[in-house]
Amino acid sequence: MTLDQNYFDAVYTESADPFRLGDNWYEDRKYALTVAALPRARYRRALEPGCSIGILTEKLAARCDALVSTDIVASALASAQARVDSAQVRFVEWSLTQSWDAVAEGGTFDLIVLSEVGYYLDGNDLRAALDSAIAHLEPGGTLLAVHWRHPVADYPQSGDQVHGIIAAADGLVRMGGYVDEDVILEVFAASTDRPDSVARIEGLV
Ligand SMILES: C[S@@+](CC[C@H](N)C(=O)[O-])C[C@H]1O[C@@H](n2cnc3c(N)ncnc32)[C@H](O)[C@@H]1O
Repeated sequence: MTLDQNYFDAVYTESADPFRLGDNWYEDRKYALTVAALPRARYRRALEPGCSIGILTEKLAARCDALVSTDIVASALASAQARVDSAQVRFVEWSLTQSWDAVAEGGTFDLIVLSEVGYYLDGNDLRAALDSAIAHLEPGGTLLAVHWRHPVADYPQSGDQVHGIIAAADGLVRMGGYVDEDVILEVFAASTDRPDSVARIEGLV
């Protein structure tokens, strides 16, 4: 069963940064891998569901003209907003399981980042969220997913299961990725054909 807002409200009652996103090299390195893996130098409009206290938000904002960052915990969003005080970032209290109208506002995204959020959804909810993500990604747009691989008892899915569901989704082509014992990071393009690589786009091949 998908973990709900009550679960995460309780988690953030224990600590303002319950996932220790701001104080360790593991996360610093993973965020560096995440932004380095983005195939485009700049994005027009990105969506970041589950932004927590906004550490990755700050790094994505540097690469995006506009960014919509969401969480289901109001206190986490407030922390993110205090960290990233920028007119280009819109913070919305929104869950991946809700209607996408509230975040898309009739438009599309050229980047969606699922960083450490997919495993809170059960398989059915994740597949439905992915269908919506693909419907709101412009052709050729990037979907980047990055997840912890070690088992966590409370979570309905493992990181590897999340990436298995994404890999099976129609409308995405895998562009590349990174995996080690701790983390799996994969980059997909919204396409049916394989899009040009970064080197091809840059005229190096
Ligand atoms: C481990 S933190 C990840 C933060 C950030 N994405 C990163 O990688 O640093 C997960 C966040 O996802 C939020 N979350 C949980 N379920 C969610 C859902 N269904 N939709 C949006 N956010 C969710 C939690 O409240 C929490 O702040």
